[in-house]
Amino acid sequence: MLNIVIFGAPGSGKGTQAQLMAEKYNLMHLSTGDILRSSIERQTPKGIEAKKYIDKGELVPDEVVNAIVARRINENHDKFNGFVFDGFPRTTAQAEELDKMLSEKDATLNLMLAMEVKHEELMSRLNNRAKTGNRTDDQNLSIIENRITIYHEITKPVIDFYKAQNKFNAINGMGTIEEIFERIDLAVKPHNL
Ligand code: AP5
Ligand code: MG
Repeated sequence: MLNIVIFGAPGSGKGTQAQLMAEKYNLMHLSTGDILRSSIERQTPKGIEAKKYIDKGELVPDEVVNAIVARRINENHDKFNGFVFDGFPRTTAQAEELDKMLSEKDATLNLMLAMEVKHEELMSRLNNRAKTGNRTDDQNLSIIENRITIYHEITKPVIDFYKAQNKFNAINGMGTIEEIFERIDLAVKPHNL
């Protein structure tokens, strides 16, 4: 199996690059944000609960997202070469859970790709998407700023968790989508034998 975490601030290109990786390496693209937004659209009990947090730019409780991921791993682990986890883990507790979920499948996380993008570029990408997209958490500047603050305060420490396991890889996330994917491809190559 090839299991990858793509990590980074809101707007750092996680979703865009995860989709390209999923295609190239035959991985399941598992985006907790996409799954939560689909639950909101379908107005499931989980979606109604999650909306309270997402609309403020805050994190949905660990138990809710961990259950989402565990279910997807159970249902799909034998259908793909592995997973690209996008937007998960966002807390150290989630990272610990992910290790447990994978070890139950006799698998492990191969690498973490941490997208590095300047603050002004994040703001510009998200403001652009707000003009045409329909994400409720892009619609106002203070929610976007809150998402980025939460990334720095709560999510960034996950980097130390993966550094301690020698799985951390910084990726320069500035440039065109194709340039960035080339950098990712180089980092993944040694793990995709
Ligand atoms: P989530 O859906 O994960 O959103 P996010 O982290 O805020 O990030 P985005 O999806 O906005 O950005 P991205 O990094 O995917 O970049 P993208 O490729 O789209 O989470 C949303 C919410 O759900 C959270 O706030 C939280 O409430 C909840 N949640 C989710 N997971 C959770 C978890 N594990 N625990 C707790 N709560 C959780 O690119 C952004 C834009 O830029 C796009 O328009 C794209 O077209 C454009 N773009 C991409 N690359 C480039 C480039 N190279 N140059 C120019 N433009 C580019
Ligand atoms: Mg995304």
